Amino acid sequence: MTLSLTETSENFGPCAMVIFGATGDLTKRKLIPALYSLSMDHRLPDKFSVLGYARSEMNDEEFRRKMRDATSEFSGAGLKNETAWEKFAQQLYFLPGNYQEPKDYLRLKEALAKLDRRNRIFYLAIPPDLYAPVIRQIAAAGLAGRGTENGRWTRIIIEKPFGSDLATAKALNREVHEVFDEEQVYRIDHYLGKETVQNILVFRFANSVFEPIWNRRYIDHVQITAAESMGVENRNGYYEKADMIRDMFQNHLLQLLCLTAMEPPVSFTADAVRDEKAKVLRAIRPISPAEGSPVAVRGQYASGTAGGKEVVGYREETGVDPKSMTETYAAVKLSIENWRWQGVPFYLRSGKRLAKRVTEVAIHFKKPPLLLFKACPVEQLSPNVLVLRIQPDEGISLTFEVKEPGPEVCVNSLSLDFSYQTAFGTAPPEAYETLLLDCMRGDSTLFTRQDWVELAWSLLTPLLESWQATRAENFPTYNAGSWGPEEADAFIERDGRRWRRP
Ligand code: NDP
Ligand code: BG6
Repeated sequence: MTLSLTETSENFGPCAMVIFGATGDLTKRKLIPALYSLSMDHRLPDKFSVLGYARSEMNDEEFRRKMRDATSEFSGAGLKNETAWEKFAQQLYFLPGNYQEPKDYLRLKEALAKLDRRNRIFYLAIPPDLYAPVIRQIAAAGLAGRGTENGRWTRIIIEKPFGSDLATAKALNREVHEVFDEEQVYRIDHYLGKETVQNILVFRFANSVFEPIWNRRYIDHVQITAAESMGVENRNGYYEKADMIRDMFQNHLLQLLCLTAMEPPVSFTADAVRDEKAKVLRAIRPISPAEGSPVAVRGQYASGTAGGKEVVGYREETGVDPKSMTETYAAVKLSIENWRWQGVPFYLRSGKRLAKRVTEVAIHFKKPPLLLFKACPVEQLSPNVLVLRIQPDEGISLTFEVKEPGPEVCVNSLSLDFSYQTAFGTAPPEAYETLLLDCMRGDSTLFTRQDWVELAWSLLTPLLESWQATRAENFPTYNAGSWGPEEADAFIERDGRRWRRP
């Protein structure tokens, strides 16, 4: 992560990126388009190669053709420039191989030696149950290397999900550390690569006006929303085994919470930032689902409408068990027990097939203490809300009360608004561009550290276990295109608050 807006050339030495699972969805939709965009911006090292590795038989030319089609379809800007694509494509190679076959890793080693790139990144874009076996094979072939050896470095990027509960995450961390030092490990949470997510830190720590009021004296509560209008699309096989807490809360939502709630780090280095984020998770009161008032609600989408079209319910999606009890919606209330946040609830919610796609962090300030304007009772005032709009329509807004023109003192809500598109004339870059570049630079600020991933799982595992044990009972549904189950409204209204309808 760099705070310089002017940097254009990079100098981190020749680098080869091996993508395991290079025939998959992530590679074609995100990784190759991101690398192409970096190449267009002259941000890749001069000597750079991608070596795609997967079981499917393909030669370099076929791989290049498939990646061209994918980039043309999935890159925000499209291909734009055939010559630039051709230049980039010359750096793409493909090696068919099995993920668990030692002989194939020796061929991989030979192929890498031929490419003659000093530094290496291994990207695990494969199903999660293959992470550990592939890491073992990388080590067995002598491809891992600890830290920086003889001026060359080796790094590994591991996709999410990292484990499916605390025990599996710990076991995976042990496997990873058998082979790689923590400094070599880049656990991806693509939310951290989003410009607007990084901007939470800049907004908080590069402005002096907000920090004094960023605490329990002025803030009533915080709502963090990641709503999607999409269903599970073509990822139902994965999603049936995941669910909402594993898919969105353990990573993206908790990261947003940490960036919003953390103390200022002592410096802007990877460990200083990640230390503060880990402290937030340590300060969260453990979730005890058995306690009196509910700390979380869940739901699953039924049929309804999305984008003006009739859509089926989750259980009718192709490949989903017609009796599936997998949650596609969750709302969780968390309490951070430290001096800054004591008594300020953080409400987190995420759902598929909700009314619209929107991700935001909304800071709800307290109401003014006193009734001054007789024509307008204090209960009618809308407390100030600062909204950090992560996506789409990236920006920031602050609502405040103003006097309506006229002889009476009547108060109305307006908002100050900042929009990325209007201010900078461009949409923010794709998260994967930032993350891939940061990994090449050796900057792990925007990647998840071992302690954080385990703390996140240790917070949520009791909830997962409790929901698993009670899946047959009390399982609310919601219509596709709505804002979630009625139970979620009752959940927050019990505290005298309401969900935003962004
Ligand atoms: P895919 O399901 O598309 O799988 C990637 C590749 O892995 C496939 O092309 C296939 O290649 C190989 N593969 C798939 N299933 C198996 C299997 N059972 N045994 C052996 N090989 C298999 O995954 P994605 O590309 O969608 O995701 C890759 C990783 O990234 C996953 O861990 C996922 O959770 C994560 N991720 C993906 C996101 C996305 O948007 N797609 C978003 C966030 C995370 P071949 O058969 O040719 O070897
Ligand atoms: C992924 C989840 O990590 O994030 C998906 O696995 C989800 O289920 C996606 O749709 C949301 O990402 P974004 O960037 O579209 O908000």
